[in-house]
Amino acid sequence: MNDLPTDSPSPNPDAARPARPGGTGGTGVNAGKTVVLGNEKGGTGKSTAAMHLIVALLRDGRSVASIDLDGHQGTLTRYVENRRSFAESEGLRLQLPDHRRVGGPAGSAGSGTADPAALRPETDALIDRLAATHDYVVLDCPGTDNALARHALSRADILITPINDSFVDLDLLARVGGTPPRVLGPSVYSQTVWEGRQRRAMGGGRPIDWIVLRNRLSPLDSRNKKRVGATLEELAGRIGFRWLDGFHERVIFRQLFLQGLTVLDLREDGAGVPLNMSHVAARQEIRRLADAVLERQAGDAAGARTGTADSEGAEPALAGL
Ligand SMILES: Nc1ncnc2c1ncn2[C@@H]1O[C@H](COP(=O)(O)OP(=O)(O)OP(=O)(O)O)[C@@H](O)[C@H]1O
Ligand SMILES: [Mg+2]
Repeated sequence: MNDLPTDSPSPNPDAARPARPGGTGGTGVNAGKTVVLGNEKGGTGKSTAAMHLIVALLRDGRSVASIDLDGHQGTLTRYVENRRSFAESEGLRLQLPDHRRVGGPAGSAGSGTADPAALRPETDALIDRLAATHDYVVLDCPGTDNALARHALSRADILITPINDSFVDLDLLARVGGTPPRVLGPSVYSQTVWEGRQRRAMGGGRPIDWIVLRNRLSPLDSRNKKRVGATLEELAGRIGFRWLDGFHERVIFRQLFLQGLTVLDLREDGAGVPLNMSHVAARQEIRRLADAVLERQAGDAAGARTGTADSEGAEPALAGL
């Protein structure tokens, strides 16, 4: 299948619905919310979480646009294309986002532009356009630090940073050392987010609601889990994010890409994957993330744990690390 053209008509009938007021993502009066999946470390689950969140929001009746800012790799684009192909070949009515790809091969926005920084104006215009007509615009960032990904941060109403549940990944948020682990200072990605918050504040935008999402949680390593949890708890207040017990390590998250399915689709007739207990638990994990984005209280204690989530609070907190 070809890459999606920049101005392709929406494949999703819901996508034409006017956006509801209240978002802050763009400059339009009724702008939808912009949700950015970002973490400059590769392979932490950004694209997987993005696709599951998109489908969760669609199933909740929201109109959703998506932008693949990792245009070169194009994982989210491929996921959406696989979903469209599978729905067509199996005759399924799977909901799709209004999807765009930035900086990919010919046919995508900014194709042929080697410098990510040069894609910022075009990306801004795309976000504004999509946010004016959708409830949510979900952006998937590359797993590297580049000017476009950094710019996307400053456009986020909600920033979701998946991290593998280990101190290796926590190292991106803060330098942690010693036994028991202590927070020694800020680290590279929290610095980047802080700068994004400052740029956004200067532009008059609302504070970024930063959600750190624990991914690949292990059912076995409870000691590590507790320590990472305690460190996150400490960091949340100091850096200014809320954190969520995200997804456990589950084979199913790796199995559905080729059909473009998510764990939320498994009950669909024709999906062809028998539902088991692990899948049911995985669906709850996705709903918890969607609830955090929709700002609904999840029924259990594992709703997002809130640190200082406003940009004004972030500066002294970060400086104090
Ligand atoms: N909870 C999970 N359980 C099992 N596998 C997972 C889980 N989350 C992600 N994966 C798998 O980990 C790999 C990396 O995930 P993904 O591509 O979503 O990460 P990413 O952060 O988008 O990577 P990149 O930085 O390269 O864009 C994929 O093979 C994905 O299927
Ligand atoms: Mg990715």
